[in-house]
Amino acid sequence: MIRCIKPCIETEASLFPRDHWYAIVDSRELRRGKVIGARRLGVDLAIWRDEAGQVHATADRCPHRGASLSLGRVRGGCVECPFHGFRFDGAGRCVAAPCNGDEAPRHLDVQAQVLREAHEFVWLWWGEPRASYPELPWFPELDAAYVHAGLMAIEAPIDWMRAVENQLDWAHLPFVHRTTIGVGVAPAMEVGAAVEGDRLDTWQANRVRPDGTPELKISLVFPNIWINPFGGRWQTGMIAFVPIEAGRSRLYVRTYQRRLGIPGLAGLVSRVMNQFNKIILGQDIRVVRSQPQAPTHELKDERLVQSDLAIALFRKELRRRLSQAVSG
Ligand code: FES
Ligand SMILES: [Fe+2]
Repeated sequence: MIRCIKPCIETEASLFPRDHWYAIVDSRELRRGKVIGARRLGVDLAIWRDEAGQVHATADRCPHRGASLSLGRVRGGCVECPFHGFRFDGAGRCVAAPCNGDEAPRHLDVQAQVLREAHEFVWLWWGEPRASYPELPWFPELDAAYVHAGLMAIEAPIDWMRAVENQLDWAHLPFVHRTTIGVGVAPAMEVGAAVEGDRLDTWQANRVRPDGTPELKISLVFPNIWINPFGGRWQTGMIAFVPIEAGRSRLYVRTYQRRLGIPGLAGLVSRVMNQFNKIILGQDIRVVRSQPQAPTHELKDERLVQSDLAIALFRKELRRRLSQAVSG
Protein backbone atom coordinates (compact mmCIF):
# COMPACT_ATOMS: atom_id res chain seq x y z
CA MET A 1 0.00 0.00 0.00
CA ILE A 2 1.19 3.53 -0.78
CA ARG A 3 1.57 5.69 2.28
CA CYS A 4 3.09 8.98 3.26
CA ILE A 5 5.84 8.55 5.78
CA LYS A 6 5.88 12.21 6.71
CA PRO A 7 3.13 14.84 6.67
CA CYS A 8 2.33 15.78 3.10
CA ILE A 9 3.94 18.83 1.58
CA GLU A 10 2.37 22.16 2.59
CA THR A 11 3.62 24.44 -0.19
CA GLU A 12 0.88 26.79 -1.42
CA ALA A 13 -1.56 24.58 0.48
CA SER A 14 -3.90 27.46 1.17
CA LEU A 15 -4.71 27.77 -2.56
CA PHE A 16 -5.90 24.22 -3.09
CA PRO A 17 -8.69 22.68 -1.00
CA ARG A 18 -7.23 19.92 1.09
CA ASP A 19 -8.61 16.44 1.67
CA HIS A 20 -9.50 16.09 -2.00
CA TRP A 21 -8.29 13.89 -4.83
CA TYR A 22 -6.79 15.86 -7.74
CA ALA A 23 -6.27 14.49 -11.22
CA ILE A 24 -2.59 15.35 -11.82
CA VAL A 25 -1.32 13.53 -14.93
CA ASP A 26 -2.74 11.48 -17.78
CA SER A 27 -1.90 7.81 -17.33
CA ARG A 28 -0.44 7.71 -20.82
CA GLU A 29 2.31 10.12 -19.79
CA LEU A 30 3.77 7.45 -17.51
CA ARG A 31 5.36 4.59 -19.34
CA ARG A 32 6.14 1.38 -17.52
CA GLY A 33 9.56 1.50 -15.90
CA LYS A 34 9.97 5.25 -16.47
CA VAL A 35 10.09 8.29 -14.20
CA ILE A 36 9.00 11.83 -15.07
CA GLY A 37 9.34 15.14 -13.26
CA ALA A 38 6.18 17.23 -12.89
CA ARG A 39 5.32 20.25 -10.80
CA ARG A 40 1.83 19.90 -9.32
CA LEU A 41 0.03 22.07 -6.73
CA GLY A 42 3.24 23.98 -6.25
CA VAL A 43 5.30 20.84 -5.50
CA ASP A 44 8.02 19.28 -7.65
CA LEU A 45 7.31 15.57 -7.91
CA ALA A 46 9.13 12.57 -9.32
CA ILE A 47 6.37 10.32 -10.62
CA TRP A 48 7.13 6.84 -11.86
CA ARG A 49 5.47 3.70 -13.02
CA ASP A 50 7.28 0.65 -11.75
CA GLU A 51 7.96 -2.49 -13.75
CA ALA A 52 4.70 -4.01 -12.51
CA GLY A 53 2.68 -1.00 -13.68
CA GLN A 54 2.03 0.63 -10.29
CA VAL A 55 2.42 4.43 -10.06
CA HIS A 56 4.34 6.21 -7.29
CA ALA A 57 5.33 9.79 -6.52
CA THR A 58 7.88 11.34 -4.22
CA ALA A 59 9.35 14.79 -3.81
CA ASP A 60 11.72 15.40 -6.73
CA ARG A 61 14.70 16.09 -4.50
CA CYS A 62 17.12 13.44 -3.35
CA PRO A 63 17.67 13.71 0.42
CA HIS A 64 21.32 12.73 -0.03
CA ARG A 65 22.65 15.79 -1.85
CA GLY A 66 19.67 17.28 -3.58
CA ALA A 67 19.67 15.97 -7.16
CA SER A 68 16.39 15.56 -9.03
CA LEU A 69 15.16 12.01 -8.72
CA SER A 70 13.18 12.46 -11.94
CA LEU A 71 16.51 12.48 -13.83
CA GLY A 72 17.14 8.97 -12.57
CA ARG A 73 15.68 5.64 -13.59
CA VAL A 74 13.33 2.99 -12.30
CA ARG A 75 14.96 -0.14 -10.91
CA GLY A 76 13.38 -2.93 -8.90
CA GLY A 77 10.17 -0.98 -8.24
CA CYS A 78 12.16 1.99 -6.94
CA VAL A 79 13.35 5.29 -8.32
CA GLU A 80 17.13 5.45 -8.49
CA CYS A 81 18.84 8.80 -8.04
CA PRO A 82 20.99 9.76 -11.06
CA PHE A 83 23.80 11.11 -8.85
CA HIS A 84 24.98 8.30 -6.55
CA GLY A 85 22.36 5.66 -7.23
CA PHE A 86 20.47 5.71 -3.94
CA ARG A 87 17.11 3.98 -4.39
CA PHE A 88 13.75 4.96 -2.91
CA ASP A 89 10.64 2.84 -2.87
CA GLY A 90 7.05 3.98 -3.37
CA ALA A 91 6.70 4.78 0.32
CA GLY A 92 9.76 7.04 0.07
CA ARG A 93 12.07 4.75 2.04
CA CYS A 94 15.72 4.67 1.06
CA VAL A 95 16.32 1.00 0.36
CA ALA A 96 19.79 1.05 -1.20
CA ALA A 97 22.90 3.24 -1.13
CA PRO A 98 25.62 1.74 -3.35
CA CYS A 99 28.45 3.84 -1.89
CA ASN A 100 27.52 2.43 1.53
CA GLY A 101 27.87 -1.11 0.37
CA ASP A 102 24.15 -0.98 -0.34
CA GLU A 103 23.29 -0.59 3.31
CA ALA A 104 20.59 2.06 3.30
CA PRO A 105 21.44 4.94 5.65
CA ARG A 106 18.80 5.54 8.27
CA HIS A 107 16.80 8.76 8.22
CA LEU A 108 17.34 9.24 4.51
CA ASP A 109 13.78 8.91 3.35
CA VAL A 110 12.06 11.13 0.82
CA GLN A 111 8.50 12.35 1.12
CA ALA A 112 6.01 10.11 -0.71
CA GLN A 113 2.53 10.98 -1.94
CA VAL A 114 -0.67 8.97 -1.84
CA LEU A 115 -1.80 8.18 -5.39
CA ARG A 116 -4.53 6.29 -7.20
CA GLU A 117 -4.98 5.54 -10.86
CA ALA A 118 -8.36 5.38 -12.58
CA HIS A 119 -10.13 6.69 -15.69
CA GLU A 120 -6.70 7.06 -17.30
CA PHE A 121 -5.68 9.68 -14.77
CA VAL A 122 -3.30 9.55 -11.85
CA TRP A 123 -4.92 11.14 -8.78
CA LEU A 124 -3.04 12.78 -5.90
CA TRP A 125 -4.47 12.86 -2.39
CA TRP A 126 -3.93 16.43 -1.18
CA GLY A 127 -4.10 16.04 2.58
CA GLU A 128 -2.81 14.00 5.45
CA PRO A 129 -2.63 10.25 4.98
CA ARG A 130 -5.56 8.44 6.56
CA ALA A 131 -6.83 4.94 7.11
CA SER A 132 -9.43 5.18 4.36
CA TYR A 133 -10.05 7.66 1.59
CA PRO A 134 -13.14 9.03 -0.13
CA GLU A 135 -13.99 7.72 -3.57
CA LEU A 136 -12.27 9.32 -6.52
CA PRO A 137 -14.27 12.07 -8.20
CA TRP A 138 -15.80 11.07 -11.52
CA PHE A 139 -18.94 11.30 -13.62
CA PRO A 140 -21.37 8.37 -13.38
CA GLU A 141 -22.59 9.16 -16.90
CA LEU A 142 -19.08 8.59 -18.33
CA ASP A 143 -19.14 4.85 -18.00
CA ALA A 144 -17.58 2.03 -19.98
CA ALA A 145 -19.88 2.78 -22.93
CA TYR A 146 -17.57 5.68 -23.76
CA VAL A 147 -14.12 5.80 -25.23
CA HIS A 148 -11.64 8.55 -26.00
CA ALA A 149 -8.36 8.72 -27.83
CA GLY A 150 -5.22 10.77 -28.01
CA LEU A 151 -3.52 12.67 -25.27
CA MET A 152 -4.17 16.39 -25.37
CA ALA A 153 -2.62 18.65 -22.75
CA ILE A 154 -2.16 22.40 -22.81
CA GLU A 155 -0.13 24.43 -20.32
CA ALA A 156 -0.89 28.08 -19.84
CA PRO A 157 -0.02 30.94 -17.47
CA ILE A 158 -3.51 30.79 -16.03
CA ASP A 159 -4.46 30.08 -12.44
CA TRP A 160 -6.50 26.88 -12.11
CA MET A 161 -9.37 28.88 -10.61
CA ARG A 162 -9.47 31.13 -13.68
CA ALA A 163 -9.33 28.06 -15.90
CA VAL A 164 -12.33 26.51 -14.13
CA GLU A 165 -14.30 29.74 -14.16
CA ASN A 166 -13.73 30.13 -17.88
CA GLN A 167 -15.51 26.82 -18.46
CA LEU A 168 -18.43 27.81 -16.24
CA ASP A 169 -18.93 31.06 -18.14
CA TRP A 170 -21.76 31.04 -20.67
CA ALA A 171 -21.59 34.72 -21.55
CA HIS A 172 -18.13 34.52 -23.10
CA LEU A 173 -19.29 32.20 -25.89
CA PRO A 174 -20.59 34.79 -28.41
CA PHE A 175 -17.45 36.93 -27.94
CA VAL A 176 -14.38 34.76 -27.29
CA HIS A 177 -15.73 32.02 -29.58
CA ARG A 178 -17.65 34.13 -32.08
CA THR A 179 -16.00 32.26 -34.98
CA THR A 180 -16.43 28.76 -33.52
CA ILE A 181 -18.72 27.36 -30.82
CA GLY A 182 -20.25 30.77 -30.08
CA VAL A 183 -21.83 31.17 -33.51
CA GLY A 184 -25.56 31.69 -33.03
CA VAL A 185 -25.41 32.04 -29.23
CA ALA A 186 -27.50 35.06 -28.22
CA PRO A 187 -25.57 37.39 -25.89
CA ALA A 188 -28.59 38.08 -23.69
CA MET A 189 -29.10 35.15 -21.35
CA GLU A 190 -30.20 33.95 -17.97
CA VAL A 191 -27.95 31.47 -16.23
CA GLY A 192 -28.94 28.75 -13.78
CA ALA A 193 -26.54 27.00 -11.42
CA ALA A 194 -26.69 24.69 -8.41
CA VAL A 195 -24.30 22.80 -6.14
CA GLU A 196 -25.07 19.36 -4.85
CA GLY A 197 -22.37 17.56 -2.94
CA ASP A 198 -19.16 17.77 -4.95
CA ARG A 199 -20.92 18.67 -8.16
CA LEU A 200 -21.68 22.12 -9.53
CA ASP A 201 -24.12 22.18 -12.47
CA THR A 202 -24.82 25.18 -14.67
CA TRP A 203 -27.13 25.80 -17.62
CA GLN A 204 -28.76 28.54 -19.65
CA ALA A 205 -32.25 28.98 -18.19
CA ASN A 206 -33.37 30.67 -21.40
CA ARG A 207 -32.44 27.60 -23.48
CA VAL A 208 -34.75 24.81 -22.43
CA ARG A 209 -36.55 21.93 -24.13
CA PRO A 210 -40.35 21.81 -24.39
CA ASP A 211 -40.45 19.83 -21.14
CA GLY A 212 -38.58 22.64 -19.37
CA THR A 213 -35.24 20.82 -18.91
CA PRO A 214 -32.08 22.67 -19.98
CA GLU A 215 -30.78 22.00 -23.48
CA LEU A 216 -27.28 21.65 -22.09
CA LYS A 217 -25.97 21.34 -18.56
CA ILE A 218 -22.25 21.48 -17.85
CA SER A 219 -20.74 20.31 -14.59
CA LEU A 220 -17.69 20.66 -12.42
CA VAL A 221 -16.90 17.94 -9.90
CA PHE A 222 -14.67 19.38 -7.19
CA PRO A 223 -11.93 20.03 -7.21
CA ASN A 224 -10.72 19.82 -10.80
CA ILE A 225 -12.74 17.86 -13.37
CA TRP A 226 -15.49 19.10 -15.69
CA ILE A 227 -17.81 17.76 -18.38
CA ASN A 228 -19.80 19.25 -21.20
CA PRO A 229 -22.18 16.73 -22.81
CA PHE A 230 -22.48 18.89 -25.93
CA GLY A 231 -23.21 15.87 -28.14
CA GLY A 232 -26.07 14.50 -26.05
CA ARG A 233 -25.56 10.81 -25.31
CA TRP A 234 -23.08 10.49 -28.19
CA GLN A 235 -20.29 12.87 -27.32
CA THR A 236 -19.01 14.52 -24.15
CA GLY A 237 -16.20 16.99 -23.61
CA MET A 238 -14.12 16.56 -20.46
CA ILE A 239 -11.35 18.66 -18.92
CA ALA A 240 -9.07 18.20 -15.90
CA PHE A 241 -7.76 21.56 -14.68
CA VAL A 242 -4.45 20.65 -13.07
CA PRO A 243 -2.70 23.28 -10.95
CA ILE A 244 1.02 23.38 -11.66
CA GLU A 245 1.38 26.19 -9.15
CA ALA A 246 -0.44 29.43 -8.41
CA GLY A 247 -0.96 31.22 -11.73
CA ARG A 248 -0.07 28.26 -13.96
CA SER A 249 -2.14 25.27 -15.06
CA ARG A 250 -2.07 22.23 -17.28
CA LEU A 251 -5.36 21.32 -18.90
CA TYR A 252 -6.07 17.76 -20.01
CA VAL A 253 -8.82 17.90 -22.61
CA ARG A 254 -10.71 14.83 -23.81
CA THR A 255 -13.68 14.13 -26.05
CA TYR A 256 -15.46 10.93 -25.12
CA GLN A 257 -17.44 9.13 -27.83
CA ARG A 258 -20.07 6.50 -27.33
CA ARG A 259 -18.79 3.17 -28.62
CA LEU A 260 -20.48 2.49 -31.94
CA GLY A 261 -19.16 -0.97 -32.63
CA ILE A 262 -17.16 0.26 -35.64
CA PRO A 263 -13.52 -0.46 -34.85
CA GLY A 264 -11.44 2.69 -34.52
CA LEU A 265 -14.22 5.13 -35.41
CA ALA A 266 -14.77 6.59 -31.96
CA GLY A 267 -11.04 7.01 -31.50
CA LEU A 268 -10.67 8.71 -34.86
CA VAL A 269 -13.48 11.18 -34.16
CA SER A 270 -11.95 11.83 -30.78
CA ARG A 271 -8.59 12.69 -32.38
CA VAL A 272 -10.25 15.11 -34.79
CA MET A 273 -12.03 16.73 -31.86
CA ASN A 274 -8.71 17.14 -30.04
CA GLN A 275 -7.51 19.35 -32.90
CA PHE A 276 -10.72 21.37 -32.81
CA ASN A 277 -10.42 21.75 -29.03
CA LYS A 278 -6.93 23.17 -29.45
CA ILE A 279 -8.43 26.02 -31.44
CA ILE A 280 -11.21 26.60 -28.90
CA LEU A 281 -8.81 26.53 -25.94
CA GLY A 282 -6.48 28.88 -27.79
CA GLN A 283 -9.33 31.38 -28.07
CA ASP A 284 -9.98 31.04 -24.33
CA ILE A 285 -6.35 31.31 -23.23
CA ARG A 286 -5.73 34.45 -25.29
CA VAL A 287 -8.28 36.32 -23.19
CA VAL A 288 -8.15 34.54 -19.84
CA ARG A 289 -4.40 35.06 -19.49
CA SER A 290 -5.06 38.80 -19.62
CA GLN A 291 -7.03 38.58 -16.36
CA PRO A 292 -5.13 39.04 -13.09
CA GLN A 293 -4.00 35.54 -12.15
CA ALA A 294 -4.53 35.93 -8.42
CA PRO A 295 -6.73 33.25 -6.80
CA THR A 296 -10.33 34.27 -7.35
CA HIS A 297 -12.16 32.96 -4.29
CA GLU A 298 -11.53 36.09 -2.27
CA LEU A 299 -11.58 38.67 -5.05
CA LYS A 300 -13.34 41.85 -3.99
CA ASP A 301 -12.81 44.04 -7.05
CA GLU A 302 -14.81 42.20 -9.71
CA ARG A 303 -18.45 43.10 -10.27
CA LEU A 304 -20.34 39.93 -11.07
CA VAL A 305 -23.65 39.98 -12.95
CA GLN A 306 -26.46 37.43 -13.29
CA SER A 307 -24.71 35.44 -16.01
CA ASP A 308 -21.78 34.90 -13.59
CA LEU A 309 -23.99 32.87 -11.25
CA ALA A 310 -22.00 29.64 -11.69
CA ILE A 311 -18.74 31.50 -11.11
CA ALA A 312 -20.14 33.08 -7.93
CA LEU A 313 -21.19 29.62 -6.71
CA PHE A 314 -17.77 28.17 -7.55
CA ARG A 315 -16.05 30.89 -5.50
CA LYS A 316 -18.43 30.43 -2.59
CA GLU A 317 -17.88 26.67 -2.60
CA LEU A 318 -14.11 27.17 -2.82
CA ARG A 319 -14.17 29.51 0.18
CA ARG A 320 -16.10 26.90 2.14
CA ARG A 321 -13.72 24.09 1.19
CA LEU A 322 -10.60 26.17 1.82
CA SER A 323 -11.81 27.36 5.21
CA GLN A 324 -12.72 23.77 6.15
CA ALA A 325 -9.18 22.79 5.36
CA VAL A 326 -7.81 25.52 7.61
CA SER A 327 -10.07 24.68 10.54
CA GLY A 328 -10.16 20.91 9.92
S1 FES B 1 22.23 13.10 -4.58
FE1 FES B 1 20.98 11.39 -4.82
S2 FES B 1 22.21 9.70 -4.40
FE2 FES B 1 23.46 11.40 -4.06
FE1 LIG C 1 -14.36 29.15 -23.88
